[in-house]
Amino acid sequence: MALHSSTSRSTDLEEQAISDTADSLVTPLPNAKFPAGSRPALTTFNLLKQELLLDGNSKQNLATFCQTYESPQVEELMALAVDKNLIDKDEYPQTAEIERRCISMMADLWNAPNDAVGCSTIGSSEAAMLGGLAAKWRWRDSRKAAGKSFDRPNMVCGSVQVCWKKFARYWDIELREVEMTAGELCMSPERMLEQVDENTIVVVPTLGVTYHGLYEDVNAISEALDELQHRKGLDVPIHVDAASGGFLAPFCAPGLAKWDFRLPRVKSINTSGHKFGLAPLGVGWVLWRESSDLPEGLVFHVSYLGGDMPTFQINFSRPAGQIISQYYDFVRLGRDGYKAIHGASYSNAQYVARELEKLGLFDLINDGNPAEGIPTVVWTLRSGIELGFNLYDLAERLRMRGWQVPAYPFTGELADKAFQRILVKRDFSREMADLLLIDIRNAITHFESHPIKTSLSAAEAASCNHLG
Ligand SMILES: Cc1ncc(COP(=O)(O)O)c(C=O)c1O
Repeated sequence: MALHSSTSRSTDLEEQAISDTADSLVTPLPNAKFPAGSRPALTTFNLLKQELLLDGNSKQNLATFCQTYESPQVEELMALAVDKNLIDKDEYPQTAEIERRCISMMADLWNAPNDAVGCSTIGSSEAAMLGGLAAKWRWRDSRKAAGKSFDRPNMVCGSVQVCWKKFARYWDIELREVEMTAGELCMSPERMLEQVDENTIVVVPTLGVTYHGLYEDVNAISEALDELQHRKGLDVPIHVDAASGGFLAPFCAPGLAKWDFRLPRVKSINTSGHKFGLAPLGVGWVLWRESSDLPEGLVFHVSYLGGDMPTFQINFSRPAGQIISQYYDFVRLGRDGYKAIHGASYSNAQYVARELEKLGLFDLINDGNPAEGIPTVVWTLRSGIELGFNLYDLAERLRMRGWQVPAYPFTGELADKAFQRILVKRDFSREMADLLLIDIRNAITHFESHPIKTSLSAAEAASCNHLG
């Protein structure tokens, strides 16, 4: 038998580890003042990891439009790129080339003529800002050239996501929002035209309205603007907010009326790579139909392989992994792969919609039809039935089981009514759908035996509705 000494270096290390652990158990992490000293790596990591358990579980986050699943290959690509800065085109020319390929593929997907230009962004919000800015500059330049005033720009849109309200406020533009009515959840060409005048820099229809996921009719809006030009000579461009629909309609709704660069009036389109583009969080895209649609004055130049690379973005430094992963998704999946994955999400959305309908308590606003919108289910309580709970109560009850299913009001005439929505994404399986439905049924049974005395209001219900 081997003889061992009773003291060893490893014992010293273990004792140190035990004492570190004991210290960390009774010492909270600093949370206000910048810490003076350092802390052991492992215990600090474990404490932080524990704290993060208090976050919602992303797999049950049916509120977000963003992806909550990434493949092991994408995780590896993200790790490989963790030290790459996207703006360093000279240092990382291959990443710059990959970004170029993505733009070229999206130009093809959205039927752009040959001269399209575009760039990546951190998400659709930055992409919307860039698309809107280009529209403002084009409008200002043409007003200047015609010797007309250019101090009161406005934009016309339906019920938009908050990024457009930010754009309008930050860049001093009047936002003319066509709000919802009971019969019109989307911006109609008629009501859009009522808002348009010579100071309108752009009309923004949304392909997948954040409130209910339905597609606004870009083709009809474009035709109405053609007709306006014919009558009054006003040439008003369109920017399509395709944050969600840009990576859905081309694959799952081939019969949808034209919404992309097939319409000459569509000058720019934004989308979120991290939504139905299936890329990890932190990538959006904006494309212009032709290089002349992006005013040269907005473009800055960075060095690239001893040459020059034009850029248009608000940030300078940005992570590169999302772009590389986006390219991986494009070439790994192709049109067939996107169609199959999103097709499964639509099928699961329709299944949930059918099951909810069977309960006889809800009216469906969006039942997951790919020809009408994104894979979403949106419902409201059927009027005329007294249930003893509202959708804010139901959202809170589902939260007890970890589900994040927001309830929130719409706009205009519908601002007093509650709606509830789930986004169906790649990792929401039929199995998960059944589990959610069981919890919805159980919640309703619970409310029957424990009626709510005072229901929650929209303001009280902390709702993660992604509207802003
Ligand atoms: C229609 C629409 N536009 C823009 C955005 C903002 O997108 P991002 O989160 O990528 O900035 C969203 C987000 O949900 C959206 O639904």
